[in-house]
Amino acid sequence: MYEVTLYLHSWIRWLLVFALLYSLISSGTALASGRPWTKANNIARGSTSGFAYLQLIIGLILYTVSPLIKVFMRNKEEVANDSALSFFGIYHVVLAIIAIVLLTIGGVKAKKALTDAKKHKMILIWFGLAAVVLLAAIPWPFHPLAAREWFRF
Ligand code: HEM
Repeated sequence: MYEVTLYLHSWIRWLLVFALLYSLISSGTALASGRPWTKANNIARGSTSGFAYLQLIIGLILYTVSPLIKVFMRNKEEVANDSALSFFGIYHVVLAIIAIVLLTIGGVKAKKALTDAKKHKMILIWFGLAAVVLLAAIPWPFHPLAAREWFRF
């Protein structure tokens, strides 16, 4: 259960990152060139939120089965000495939830906006903020507190 969940969580990260980047680049170039809001923009907006919610659900399951979180919950002394424990126990979860809230707000605002330019602007602002927070939340191989591999096999 733990391995499957960790594997899924690791790979869905890439789906989320690519959908988010596609949304940002597409809305950025559309705003610059005056391109309208297209079906592809709508799909990118929806799939970015969808992957984020899926990642949230899998993350919550992972939190209950991860041996690392079990140590985090039980052993305060080890937490003080191991930055990865406090990263996954607290910071990763809090930052990821903040990013998901920002994506949700942006998605709703883009959906409700009356003009195409406003829709692209909402994506750029809210998804852009979410991207910055997500960048700090993901344990990239160069992360100072908890480095993980680019790809889990
Ligand atoms: C939506 C944004 C999120 C992204 C992009 C994300 C991404 C990741 C990545 C890339 C890893 C490392 C996987 C590996 O070692 O290959 C990880 C680990 C982890 N994530 Fe997330 N995560 C997110 C949200 C969450 C949430 C909301 C929770 C909990 C509620 C969570 C709990 C965990 C835990 C506990 C681990 C460490 C598991 C272990 O090594 O035992 N994640 N996450």
